[in-house]
Amino acid sequence: MHTTRTRSTASLRKLGRTLLYVGSCLLAGWTCAAGDAPRSDARVHTAANPDPWWKHAVIYEIYPRSFQDSNGDGIGDLNGITQRLDYLQALGVDAIWIAPMYPSPQVDFGYDISDYQNVDPQYGSLADFDHLVAQAGKRHIRVLLDMVLNHTSDQHPWFLEAARSRDSARHDFYCWNDGKPGPAGQRLPPNNWVSLFGGSAWQYLPAVGQFYYHMFYRQQPDLNWRNPQVERAMFAAMRFWLDRGVAGFRLDAITTLFEDAKLRDEPALGGRNAQGDPILSDLYTNNLPEVHGVIRRMRAMIDEYPGERVLIGETYVPKTADLDPWYGGALHNELQLPMDTLVGLGSKLDASSFRQHLIEAATQLHDSRPLLVFDNHDNIRSWDRFGDGVHNDAIARIVAALLLTSRATALLYQGEEIGQRTATPTRVEDVRDPIGITGWPKEKGRDGERTPMQWDTSNAQAGFSTNPKTWLPVPPDYRTVNVQTESADPQSLLNWHRRLIALRRSNSALHSGRTVMLDQTNARVLTYARVDAHGGTIIVSLNMSPRPQTITLDAPAAGLSGTHYRTLLSSPEAIIAAAVSQPIALPAFGAWVAALDSRQ
Ligand code: BGC
Ligand code: CA
Repeated sequence: MHTTRTRSTASLRKLGRTLLYVGSCLLAGWTCAAGDAPRSDARVHTAANPDPWWKHAVIYEIYPRSFQDSNGDGIGDLNGITQRLDYLQALGVDAIWIAPMYPSPQVDFGYDISDYQNVDPQYGSLADFDHLVAQAGKRHIRVLLDMVLNHTSDQHPWFLEAARSRDSARHDFYCWNDGKPGPAGQRLPPNNWVSLFGGSAWQYLPAVGQFYYHMFYRQQPDLNWRNPQVERAMFAAMRFWLDRGVAGFRLDAITTLFEDAKLRDEPALGGRNAQGDPILSDLYTNNLPEVHGVIRRMRAMIDEYPGERVLIGETYVPKTADLDPWYGGALHNELQLPMDTLVGLGSKLDASSFRQHLIEAATQLHDSRPLLVFDNHDNIRSWDRFGDGVHNDAIARIVAALLLTSRATALLYQGEEIGQRTATPTRVEDVRDPIGITGWPKEKGRDGERTPMQWDTSNAQAGFSTNPKTWLPVPPDYRTVNVQTESADPQSLLNWHRRLIALRRSNSALHSGRTVMLDQTNARVLTYARVDAHGGTIIVSLNMSPRPQTITLDAPAAGLSGTHYRTLLSSPEAIIAAAVSQPIALPAFGAWVAALDSRQ
């Protein structure tokens, strides 16, 4: 279904599911705060390390409802996140992106915002938020917020006012249309646009005798970005948080801010999606050129703030080159980090396509930094997408190695580091995500990737909550798949992530070196070198096949100096000897990270 929505912002749901979704001074002070010994890593911006922090960062997505409940109501909250900051620091993350925690009727679990300048009482208070930012700062962790600009909740005061009458001051904040007369005298929507969440994208409101447009649920009316007041209001909301010290934003559904002014019908592509709607192009509802003006002004705004604030975009596009305009091309004046979801959110572990993709990202983006992402709160977890049912653990290590050793900013989603599984509901009555209710059984919704974080075995809620009734159930596998158990096991997936992140920080080639592809015709094994400014070289070799493979590397032919390979990390552990001679034997789904030295 991916092809049907290739230009959609909505996430790509693979595996048979419809692509559906699918204090500023604090920041500035980080590099010099008294008592904070700067680490030799990404966050220290010095003459020796001139790059901004986000170019090397590991960003960790938190779905606040499911991370840690601190007050026993079965729902995660901000104080819960604060309680777990030590864990995140030990893991080595540079920033957390918190999915929406603003006041919301929670129809789309926070992506329907009714007040952009507050915290939903379910999640805490503004004071809790400030405390979280301060505590995170002490641990060198920046806080990024999710900013939903495409739509508000239908309970937002702006929409309540807009929906009162055509003459109300806020009416033009949203996208209204009179529609067309139907055969029986009724009003029909102006065109064939369908909501990504099912049904017509137009909702009739008798009070005003008009339809409003909603790309997502009808409780999420789209804002009218052709009205300059909307931009002013939303930028003011962003400033509110920038002034409180957030390091930037992840911009939700950012490619969909504008729709065709003429409201032309979308061409039908044939067939129906999991919600039973006709599959349409998104020519007139997604990626309209007008959006770039907004993004350039937004970038100029965040650049006024000290501390290298960052804009991350939810940018589902069909091809790598399509990401380039989102960076601002050669001008680099739009998003610093549009998400590269092209391969990471796929489901095929394929050496050739990953290689091709990394080459494209290195050559088609005007030297901008790719942001790789394998998991998020909208998609089946990579454990299940890439796993073959037999070698899932080894495959998860390959995914982690690719994510954390590529020349890219890395995005991890909570639970990915411990191999949390997708726990999709088996009965429709258990489904919480509305798209799983309307789409059942073809579309079972996104609950499976949103179940609570599995911390320990202290109680049946895996330490997530003291309340036996959590908002989504904790899967029974928490007994073995949890942070505590995996922390104690040196061979665990969690410790694999920790070691990779630590190496990425401490090794200059992995931290900031260029990439040289090796063994480029090998369809089963992906091998590349990362090379620092002084020639220091790291080799990464990932066997993406279920059979052992033997590789022979010609480092001199690739312009690399060094003759001896020294294993730094391998999976399975210790399968590959510390000092390696060619040819190199890689077990099925083996991962190998080595230094290339001149001498043994
Ligand atoms: C979010 C989804 C949400 C949708 C509508 C997406 O980008 O990731 O979870 O349902 O936007 O706001
Ligand atoms: Ca709570």
